[in-house]
Amino acid sequence: MSYLDTTHDVYKEAALTPDVGLCCTTNPIWELPGLKIPKIMQEMNYGCGSTVHARDLTNNPKMLYVGVGGGMELLQFSYFNRQKGGVVGVDVVDEMLEASRKNFKVAEEQNSWFKSEFVDLKKGDALNLPVEDNSIDVAAQNCLFNIFKTDDLKKAIAEMYRVLKPHGRLVMSDPTCEQPMNETLRNDERLRALCLSGSLPIAEYVKMLTDAGFGTIEIRARKPYRILDPKNYPTDELIYIESIEVAAIKDPMPADGPCVFTGKAAIYYGEEDYFDDKQGHILLKNQPLAICDKTAAALKALNRDDIYFSESTYHYDGGGCC
Ligand SMILES: C[S@@+](CC[C@H](N)C(=O)[O-])C[C@H]1O[C@@H](n2cnc3c(N)ncnc32)[C@H](O)[C@@H]1O
Repeated sequence: MSYLDTTHDVYKEAALTPDVGLCCTTNPIWELPGLKIPKIMQEMNYGCGSTVHARDLTNNPKMLYVGVGGGMELLQFSYFNRQKGGVVGVDVVDEMLEASRKNFKVAEEQNSWFKSEFVDLKKGDALNLPVEDNSIDVAAQNCLFNIFKTDDLKKAIAEMYRVLKPHGRLVMSDPTCEQPMNETLRNDERLRALCLSGSLPIAEYVKMLTDAGFGTIEIRARKPYRILDPKNYPTDELIYIESIEVAAIKDPMPADGPCVFTGKAAIYYGEEDYFDDKQGHILLKNQPLAICDKTAAALKALNRDDIYFSESTYHYDGGGCC
């Protein structure tokens, strides 16, 4: 039996018997005018952050959501789209598809704008998506990809890249961990399935995305997630797990490498009204310019004494260089 079978069984069980603490998140539930999230969807919120960002969702994008869980985020995406089949939901577990189908019926009763037909549920595997090439504007997954081992993760990311249109976005939320994890933890199939022992350091996670061809990466949030302590888990040291929200954009790969936004900014405070690096970046005096890590390195290399660089906040929310 592979860890993927164990994962299947864990989520079959979580579909049949909702488990509120399964993938605990302290994320606030989106509250928007006229949007009511049924209680059962909240109880089946098995994510670790949010993949719903209003600025991705203009102009009725065609959306794909892989690993549907109780359906909460698909309902939230539908709020912005409101078209038949506007959100395609893919899951490999029949019982999870069935549970979310029922939950969408409950959502219909509580949201006058919502119709179940807005969501097109399909049985399928993240490693082999039943979706056409270049057909999706916004693809999302929440707390699924961290479960995959390296080769499967590569396949899952490549599948998302394949189905996205040029400049389409892959929005994700996953646990990450900067500490090394021992092999016992890594190979514990149940802990992996529960999103506790598969997570990567942020830099490795980002590299998997840029290696797949995504030219722009945005790290939008970084939050505390879980602790693995020696009393309760097979580890000698305390392990701290965070969760991040990331968008990977199918922009062409720049010749000098990807643009990775981690929430850095540069502020010019020299004698002139602005500083122009002649590489496309104009820094107005005393105004922060959001910069990607590549631009930060290039500007720092100028060794000027009139530009301040802030550290990464891991809270990038748009605009700036590139
Ligand atoms: C941790 S839950 C997250 C559910 C949902 N995204 C949320 O935030 O509540 C993982 C989901 O992925 C599904 N899943 C597991 N393995 C999968 C695979 N190989 N392909 C597609 N979906 C899968 C599970 O059935 C479950 O719905």
